[in-house]
Amino acid sequence: MALSTNGSEESELYHAQIHLYKHVYNFVSSMALKSAMELGIADAIHNHGKPMTLTELASSLKLHPSKVNILYRFLRLLTHNGFFVKTTVKSNEGEKEEDIAYSLTPSSKLLISGKSTCLSSLIKGALHPSSIDMWSSSEKWLKEDKEQTLFECAKGENYWDFLNRDSDTLNMFQDAMAADSRMFKLALKENKHVFEGLESLVDVAGGTGGVTKLIHEAFPNIKCTVFDQPQVVGNLTGNENLNFVGGDMFKSIPPADAVLLKWVLHDWNDELSLQILKNSKEAISHKGKDGKVIIIDISIDETSDDHGLTELQLEYDLVMLTMFLGKERTKTEWDKLIHDAGFSSYKIIPISGFKSLIEVYP
Ligand SMILES: C[S@@+](CC[C@H](N)C(=O)[O-])C[C@H]1O[C@@H](n2cnc3c(N)ncnc32)[C@H](O)[C@@H]1O
Repeated sequence: MALSTNGSEESELYHAQIHLYKHVYNFVSSMALKSAMELGIADAIHNHGKPMTLTELASSLKLHPSKVNILYRFLRLLTHNGFFVKTTVKSNEGEKEEDIAYSLTPSSKLLISGKSTCLSSLIKGALHPSSIDMWSSSEKWLKEDKEQTLFECAKGENYWDFLNRDSDTLNMFQDAMAADSRMFKLALKENKHVFEGLESLVDVAGGTGGVTKLIHEAFPNIKCTVFDQPQVVGNLTGNENLNFVGGDMFKSIPPADAVLLKWVLHDWNDELSLQILKNSKEAISHKGKDGKVIIIDISIDETSDDHGLTELQLEYDLVMLTMFLGKERTKTEWDKLIHDAGFSSYKIIPISGFKSLIEVYP
């Protein structure tokens, strides 16, 4: 390599190149993770009950013998990315020869099916081909004068219509949401006080009721209603204190002591979010000052020292923008939206790492 007359310029160029390439190829890490999920690698290791060698894994996954080395290459990247850990095991009982074996990390344990913490359906939903393909239309989208999402620009229909087109797609989306909701269990345990004393709660745009079921489990005496579009909740049945109601949150919301809006306001622009918040305020109005709205969403903090966390929040913002013309909001934006809807005060409590719970009072 030729010696540079200006070492720092050269080093800056190399760093810039690595930085750029890393962002270009980040999708490979996402896709390798999706492949691992589809193959069921985490289930195979979990069911084996101890670290698994490459040959054991390939045979359990029923891979073609010619693909063992390919599996190794996937595992090498995924191990580097923190999804698996390599250990050495004796090849055969009593023998000296050692083999490499793979075990799970806390992140890949989130792929074990059947567990309440399984996030496989979130990966399926987030990395669905339609949500990836749409990005090839981003230049067209940005240059044309049409108020539509990138998804609509690319696919000719909006995301909600796409979801409602067939039950498989709608289930794919609702399963992804339900998986995300089950992760709320820990946050609920840490924030029980938010729900204590409530006699009724309506989970607006609550999907198939992932979060409400957790609340119902922890507080069986609260009368819980999951309110969503008729095609989502129409066939669902609950029990005495857990019921499903179909309707349109832009028209009216069933009355309750508290309205829960989880992962809802980020789907909508400020004008439509304001409408949802005003209808929420009306729904709790019979409780006077004792009613509340509980929002679970992201509160972006660009000043945070946690670069990775802020990156995730900003990535979510672009997902909401491109799929729904929605947005993730900063604290200042939440402040304005909440006050514009006529509420007097609020409290932001950070939960599950990158989301926040916002208690809003009339
Ligand atoms: C991002 S999902 C959130 C689901 C749920 N809150 C959760 O966190 O799992 C948004 C939900 O809004 C519902 N939705 C969309 N438009 C609606 C409307 N006009 N009225 C009621 N629900 C609606 C969708 O059916 C979907 O279940």
